[in-house]
Amino acid sequence: FNVPEPKNEPVFDYAPGTPARAKLQAALQEARSKEVDVPMYIGSEEVRTGNKIPLSPPHDHQHLLGHFHEGDKSHVEQAINAALGAKEAWETMEWEQRAAIFLKAADLIAGPYRYKMNAATMLGQSKNAFQAEIDSACEIVDFLRFNVKYMTEIYKQQPPISGDGVWNRLEQRPLEGFVFALTPFNFTAIAGNLPTAPAMMGNTVVWKPAYTQIYTANLLMQVFREAGVPDGVINLVYVDGPAAGEVIFEHPEFAGIHFTGSTAVFQTIWKTIGNNIEKYKSYPRIVGETGGKDFVIAHKSADAKQLATGLVRGAFEFQGQKCSAASRAYIPSNLWEDVKKYMQEDLASIKMGGPEDFSNFINAVIDEKSFDKIAKYIDTAKSDGLEVVAGGHYDKSKGYFVEPTVLLTKDPMYTTMCEEIFGPVLTIYVYQEDHFEEALELVDQTSPYGLTGAIFSHDRYAAQLATQKLRNAAGNFYINDKPTGAVVGQQPFGGARKSGTNDKAGAMINMLRWVSPRTIKETF
Ligand code: SER
Repeated sequence: FNVPEPKNEPVFDYAPGTPARAKLQAALQEARSKEVDVPMYIGSEEVRTGNKIPLSPPHDHQHLLGHFHEGDKSHVEQAINAALGAKEAWETMEWEQRAAIFLKAADLIAGPYRYKMNAATMLGQSKNAFQAEIDSACEIVDFLRFNVKYMTEIYKQQPPISGDGVWNRLEQRPLEGFVFALTPFNFTAIAGNLPTAPAMMGNTVVWKPAYTQIYTANLLMQVFREAGVPDGVINLVYVDGPAAGEVIFEHPEFAGIHFTGSTAVFQTIWKTIGNNIEKYKSYPRIVGETGGKDFVIAHKSADAKQLATGLVRGAFEFQGQKCSAASRAYIPSNLWEDVKKYMQEDLASIKMGGPEDFSNFINAVIDEKSFDKIAKYIDTAKSDGLEVVAGGHYDKSKGYFVEPTVLLTKDPMYTTMCEEIFGPVLTIYVYQEDHFEEALELVDQTSPYGLTGAIFSHDRYAAQLATQKLRNAAGNFYINDKPTGAVVGQQPFGGARKSGTNDKAGAMINMLRWVSPRTIKETF
């Protein structure tokens, strides 16, 4: 069995007049005109509870895309039982067979499901066509193909020394029990990766997506089934978080969690696991990616235009709802006026609206709760006297629209420089151009997070100094580029400090968390 050497899935640009654009538009039309009835998937069953919750596009909240069926604790129990029931057959299956299933899933998404998947992400999460393409067509496919490669490398790993009547070997067992995957709304790729990475290594999974992502999770699940993932290997449930947690974290067979979401939820989960530690058969694996307060710092030698473009894209693509989004920037005084002018020009030309109109760069934020939270940060900043360099308006009458907003603060410790907002708000602090080292210190000390960050500099020494001084401030560090858009196989993604366990998504380190090796010594 030769696993093909993975390459990154090519990104379609959906330029006007291309067949790809026409196909995507047709998929959007079809999805918009048909109401879905989304069941939970437990073992071989599609479960419809009748407790129907509506699904709507964030940019058009009165339009109905369909409903999903909400479950309760009993469904979580059923899902755990289904996962445990499917375990033996799955973990004893030849790993090559498991690999083939996930490679097929990748091919289905890259091929026949590509437009459907993007249309679902555009409608369900309000992403523009390009942001959907790099997520629900490319990154998810890359996760599946590259993880299969890492999987084969892990299975090949053996102790270097055997001989003279002794044969030593490592057997890469999956964890004993079931794995819980808890996935966020903001990336379809993350939703796909979190259950499949453990499953690839022979684990069976209970998967609970954010309610705001169920529309796309449903489609992913259909792909996994069509690719041949056996019943019970991945079970998809829609249950209120705390209720699900009560069942999952009390269970003796709970073997690990693969999480992306908020820092607060992750910390609650960690404490709950700690409190229940004596109940479990094994120490559970805790793998999580949480929040960020991602920075951009510029040195006085940076190119103002390149910096402005990096800030606009890094802060505002997908409405700033990437855990990697630039949300605080430190600009030297000599560059500020130019950077301000270029950003204002850029932002004035950017259009906001629903993603079905491909000319809109900015779409809606995910839901009303998020909208209200972001609006409150903007209002407070205005009443605290911060200068609004761009944007500052919002409107939720049709969809949850917030203008890309740039704030200027004189206080480097102002709230919006420190707290995660998860929306299109960038706060800027201008430092005296000759105080670069003090600015680096500020970057490092201001936030408890450590996810992504960027330095813009044409001075090699300054870039190196920043790389060295900020070594713990970001798990993904970019030199002369925006701090978002990590590509699987190129920039393994994840951060430390309060941003997570840094078990790099789309990397061998991550796949190793889902095995519990057995060493076997045989003498003959
Ligand atoms: N991996 C994404 C990025 O790099 C965030 O989850 O932007």
